[in-house]
Amino acid sequence: MHPDITEVLFTEQDILAVARRMGAEISRDYAGQKLLLVTVLKGAFVFMADLIRNIDIPVEVDFMAVSSYGAEAKSSGVVRIIKDLEAPIEDYHVLLVEDILDSGLTLNYLKKYLKSRNPLSVDIATLLLKEGKQEVPVDYKYLGLICPDAFVVGYGLDFAEKYRNLPYIGILDPRCYS
Ligand code: IMP
Ligand code: MG
Repeated sequence: MHPDITEVLFTEQDILAVARRMGAEISRDYAGQKLLLVTVLKGAFVFMADLIRNIDIPVEVDFMAVSSYGAEAKSSGVVRIIKDLEAPIEDYHVLLVEDILDSGLTLNYLKKYLKSRNPLSVDIATLLLKEGKQEVPVDYKYLGLICPDAFVVGYGLDFAEKYRNLPYIGILDPRCYS
């Protein structure tokens, strides 16, 4: 285990099991429909790679990048779009894939933003949910795992751009950010 990690919460096997379950649900729910998965960079890219390989209906992907955190471990509430979608989404059912739903400020903003571009629908799939931490209500359609109220890294999730490469999700030693 990495020396900055105090506890492994979810192993690669746990996360792959989520990708299989969620992929099956999405394949069933969107069968016969035009589906676009929108991934929020950078954190969600690792889970997305697992998820898409467990979807067995036609699906397209696009990427957005937003920033709501600097080198800090708590939400700033400020969402900045760094990279936008490449094509119009009017003909698509859009599923926004996120790594973690914490304050909800990021997803709340993104969902409204995507709705303003008039897709057939916009829904959310999140790998992790920090229960009870939402500052704004966010309704998600697919949920992977409930995460304790701690700062977690790995499997795409970072602190100051580090730890994304860990093949598990674990709690970052608070000494690393205080
Ligand atoms: P929210 O706007 O507070 O819901 O936070 C959304 C974004 O903040 C996520 O997509 C992550 O990139 C980041 N984030 C929130 N909590 C954590 C965490 O525990 N570890 C790493 N990143 C986090
Ligand atoms: Mg993120």
